[in-house]
Amino acid sequence: MSNQLFYANLVLAFYLSCHYALAQTENFPLPLKAVNLGNWFVIEGWMKPSLFDGITNKDLLDGTQVQFMSTKLQKYLCAEHGGGSVVVANRTKALGWETFRLWRVNESTFNFRVSSKQFIRLTNQNGGSNLVADSDSPSDMETFEILRSDDDPNMVRIRAPNGQFLQAISENVVLANYEGSSWDDSDPSVFKMNVLSGSIIRGEYQITNGYGPDKASKIMRDHWNTYITEDDFKFMSENGLNAVRIPVGWWTTLDPTPPKPFVGGSLEVLDNAFTWAEKYGIKVIVDLHAAPGSQNGRPHSASRDGYLEWDDSYISDTVAAIDFLAERYANSSGLVAIELMNEPQGVNLESLKSYYQAGYDAVRKHTSSAYVIMSNPLDRDSKVLLSFAGAFSGVVIDVHYYNLFSDRFSNMNVQQNIDFIKKQRVSDLSSLTTSNGPLIFVGEWSSDWKVQSASKIDQQKFTQVQVDVYSRAKFGWAYWAYKCDSNFWSIKWMIENNYIKL
Ligand SMILES: *[C@@H]1O[C@H](CO)[C@@H](O)[C@H](O)[C@H]1NC(C)=O
Ligand SMILES: *[C@@H]1O[C@H](CO)[C@@H](O)[C@H](O)[C@H]1NC(C)=O
Ligand SMILES: *[C@@H]1O[C@H](CO)[C@@H](O)[C@H](O)[C@H]1NC(C)=O
Repeated sequence: MSNQLFYANLVLAFYLSCHYALAQTENFPLPLKAVNLGNWFVIEGWMKPSLFDGITNKDLLDGTQVQFMSTKLQKYLCAEHGGGSVVVANRTKALGWETFRLWRVNESTFNFRVSSKQFIRLTNQNGGSNLVADSDSPSDMETFEILRSDDDPNMVRIRAPNGQFLQAISENVVLANYEGSSWDDSDPSVFKMNVLSGSIIRGEYQITNGYGPDKASKIMRDHWNTYITEDDFKFMSENGLNAVRIPVGWWTTLDPTPPKPFVGGSLEVLDNAFTWAEKYGIKVIVDLHAAPGSQNGRPHSASRDGYLEWDDSYISDTVAAIDFLAERYANSSGLVAIELMNEPQGVNLESLKSYYQAGYDAVRKHTSSAYVIMSNPLDRDSKVLLSFAGAFSGVVIDVHYYNLFSDRFSNMNVQQNIDFIKKQRVSDLSSLTTSNGPLIFVGEWSSDWKVQSASKIDQQKFTQVQVDVYSRAKFGWAYWAYKCDSNFWSIKWMIENNYIKL
């Protein structure tokens, strides 16, 4: 190749890359100053617990872990070997094998998932009263009714699918063949139920399945239509925010008839969000916060029972959700980015990369200008995707910075927290920032910390140092969240009460 031709090619390449970058940024300024519209389309009960108040037996939601002690034998029910075997009542202590995760069928009937992830079922043996914890998919024979005593809701009797009650006849023999109705402690069918309150999950699955098909639809529609409204977009634009990150769940892409227990109607409201965003000059990041199967087992990924089940077998469904969102919003002037998945944690890294590749391609089928955001796995080093992501154009890596969720923050004082932002966060951001690699986005942070009873000035300083430092991330940042019962998790409250300046 002649020198001249080489030079011409170089100029052309330079021109094209500038043009490409311009196409993506001409309409809005980077870094973004964004807020997460958390708890809107993907419920997180901790942010507004009262949403769950109307659920009957609201402590017995999907994923709640329970243990049953026979009051007569003073021993716990146990799925021997954690599953695949008999159910006995011979344990003095309740650990994994003695703990059952509920799958809620309705307010009083449940499946019991044991630690091997199998379900307890009634078999034909012993005249149809035998119990084995070896079922892979629950149906009628795996469905049990929990009857709570009027005097003490944690005294229970358990009715099996044959209509009879479970009884601990002896430590080694538990059968579903008891017809009595006594609540006496000496009755072999009476159990004291421990609800592990720390295990109660309050996410989208729990609220929709908790209210059930008759009530969930109205509850969710009322929530979608009141939690965030057009006025909020106006408020954001008047107060220095220029973007929103909107967490959505995979079921929204199957609107209006998502699989049970999810309810339809969210897509229309997401459409409204784009209309309002465009009206007030706010850019939108659509963030697939809850992937099918759950990519982290957390309530915010709509896990049914706390298990992470997203793997290769879910990639095509997850790509389909991204394809749907990209197609629907590619031509909206409000769209700035699509985030392929929020906070994978514990997923296989190679599976994640295959998915990110396929998700990227799905977005690019519909738009060359929207950025594609890849969330860094929570359980990995923040640089683990850096070279992988460097192979794509228009890609952003999302890291989440909280001075929480790790023991290292437990005893930090005000200054130590501030110094941590100035040193560790600055250093992490600079090690992630490369001249032609992916852009970096601090897609979640908040002003909450472990410091007890800090002064307003301290809280303002901690907030402001984060704003300053996270603004060095070239793609910008997004506060978690806009609205929350807990003040430091609500940027609206922070703005109105002069805790944050933008
Ligand atoms: C719950 O489901 C069981 C089993 O299908 C049914 O017998 C019962 O009537 C239902 N209860 C309620 C409150 O819907
Ligand atoms: C409980 O019963 C099972 C089944 O009979 C037996 O294998 C196991 O060793 C017993 N465990 C205890 C702690 O008694
Ligand atoms: C978006 O715009 C392109 C180009 O005008 C068009 O081909 C495509 O069909 C549009 N997509 C949607 C979903 O409207």
